[in-house]
Amino acid sequence: MTTKQEIEKLRQSIREHDHRYYVKNSPTISDRKYDALFRRLKKLESAHPEYVAPDSPTQRVGGKVDERFQAVVHPVPMLSLDNTYNVEEVRAFHQRVLRGLPDVRDDAIEYVVELKFDGLAVSLTYEDGLLVRGATRGDGLRGEDITANLRTIRSVPLKIDAAFCRRMELRGEVYMPKKEFARINTQRAADGEMPFVNPRNAAAGALRLLDPAVTAQRGLGIFIYGVGFLDAAADFQTHYELQKKLAALQFPVNEHNRLCKNFAAALALIEEFRDKRQDLDYEVDGLVIHLNSLDYRKKLGATSRFPRWAVAYKYAAEQAVTEIADIVCQVGRTGSITPVAELQPVFLSGSTVARATLHNEDEIKRKDIRVGDRVVIEKAGEIIPKVVRVIESSGKRRRPFAMPTACPECRATIHRGDGEAVWRCVNSACPAQLKERLKYFASRKAMDIDHLGPAVIEQLVDTGGVKNFSDLYVLKKDDLTSLERLGDKSAQNLLDEIAKSKSAGFSRLLHALGVRHVGQRTASILARRFRSINELQTVGYDELEKIDEVGPVIAESLRAFLEQDSNRREIESLRRLGVVMKERGGSPARDASLVGKQFVITGTLSRFTREEAKEKIQSLGGRVTATVSKNTDYLVAGTAAGSKLEKARQLGTAILDEEALRKLVERDGAA
Ligand code: IVH
Repeated sequence: MTTKQEIEKLRQSIREHDHRYYVKNSPTISDRKYDALFRRLKKLESAHPEYVAPDSPTQRVGGKVDERFQAVVHPVPMLSLDNTYNVEEVRAFHQRVLRGLPDVRDDAIEYVVELKFDGLAVSLTYEDGLLVRGATRGDGLRGEDITANLRTIRSVPLKIDAAFCRRMELRGEVYMPKKEFARINTQRAADGEMPFVNPRNAAAGALRLLDPAVTAQRGLGIFIYGVGFLDAAADFQTHYELQKKLAALQFPVNEHNRLCKNFAAALALIEEFRDKRQDLDYEVDGLVIHLNSLDYRKKLGATSRFPRWAVAYKYAAEQAVTEIADIVCQVGRTGSITPVAELQPVFLSGSTVARATLHNEDEIKRKDIRVGDRVVIEKAGEIIPKVVRVIESSGKRRRPFAMPTACPECRATIHRGDGEAVWRCVNSACPAQLKERLKYFASRKAMDIDHLGPAVIEQLVDTGGVKNFSDLYVLKKDDLTSLERLGDKSAQNLLDEIAKSKSAGFSRLLHALGVRHVGQRTASILARRFRSINELQTVGYDELEKIDEVGPVIAESLRAFLEQDSNRREIESLRRLGVVMKERGGSPARDASLVGKQFVITGTLSRFTREEAKEKIQSLGGRVTATVSKNTDYLVAGTAAGSKLEKARQLGTAILDEEALRKLVERDGAA
């Protein structure tokens, strides 16, 4: 390959990875590999300046603006940082700083060392004390206006002391706490949706939702780390003082930021945080070393991509070596067969790991993973570890892994669809699938049958007592007391719960049936549109497909489900046994996001009167009260909002501006 060809190949590959990372939020290579590609390209381009082209990825700051959001031009470009992976490179950074400041003594250079949060860079603009705009970084010059979504982050002050400055633009990183990430993925799995790969992607997804009310439920956090523009900048000499001031103004500035009197002190922190970062509730992928003096920063300036006054040190992902004891296949609710590695337990990043996902057949083939192999496993942002690679061994290996030819649970045929990575068991009566479907049916957001836990479900299926959902509704006390560890009283409680679930209503029932792609939200949209499951059964594909948020994939899946004879019979049996097919109370279902939600309205609204806003909220099942308390779910804040807004901020209540309220009620069909 000629140099020119290599350059072109690198550019193409970097563009593809940029698109996956910034636009689709699903990167396929590690940051480290990406950086290596980038560096190689830069090296070739600087050796051959004749090949440098304006469309090379090295010639812009990165990313792409999504057309669904308004573009925002950053008043000061949002640069990124040069990443380093070893202490030598950090030393080289310090040497460059020294060379750039020839009149300054080495020991007079102070640094501020901060955690490098693994999230998304955003900018927040305040004017006369009010948050007026929030934006993504985008390509560094232009970002996307995501004000409404950023406003839902509870730690973002909407209002600050106006005396501080007329105008400022802050920079920070939005992240999803690890606990929140785990909660959301559990929920997604229960709803039959793909889990997020890591907290960063989950946060990116949440920030770019078109509905701020949904963003508000994702528990995002933010740390402010810097200033883009500040008209009071002259009052500050150092980055550290400025951060102290921002913290005093109630901005979330990270508590671990450390002022270091010299470079040696900064280096020492790299080791200190290597392990400590595991104990934090947010992902930290390295440290950022900032020059403290604002005057020195100005003197050093920036290249077209990076400031010369800061550098990022990235920790390598934590890895461990262990052995694959076995590869087993799990059967999911929809029959999907997922290979999982059982490992010799090993301690990694704060916990003992005994299993790792292998994703699917192709992934195992690509990495050639076999039972008995020694492998490198890694936890990099993801909660479930993955197998990175097999360590070469000279000994004789076992045979390559082969997917089972039949369902590991029921021996039925398994099938892999065109263009799909997943094998599925085709037997809808497969006991493993049935158990998973029953767990889903009984779960809190579906039929909400308390006491029908996994142990009871196992036994009910294994003894043949329950072959489908409707069998639950003919269970007698004797059927239950004959099960292990189920006394008379527990059996009665369970029967009562099952009976109670009959009136769960259309939306919950539809969700509980577990139609592929039909989660809680889609079920509630459909339940608002049609009167009962029986009416839904009469609706054709074309009508379904046109419904907002339904579309062809869901429409197809729903049609196929409702047309299948066994499913029709099952719905009919449920109906005969007294399971209610309509929404509770006979009225159309309301969106779960407003039923039971408490609102307070404050300040002046311009689009509608307060009374109208109140009526709209109430018509969707929400309640409007006068005072903010810990029970308040949303504060609707118009202009000139005062003490209620303050109170809501203190309590961490989700705050909606008028626009966000309008979107919320319009989405629910009331405006
Ligand atoms: S300072 C001119 N401080 O890391 C850019 N960045 O690789 C100055 N980041 O784009 C950035 N934590 O999104 C800074 N404490 C921190 C950070 C931080 C995370 C992100 C930020 C930036 C990227 C640089």
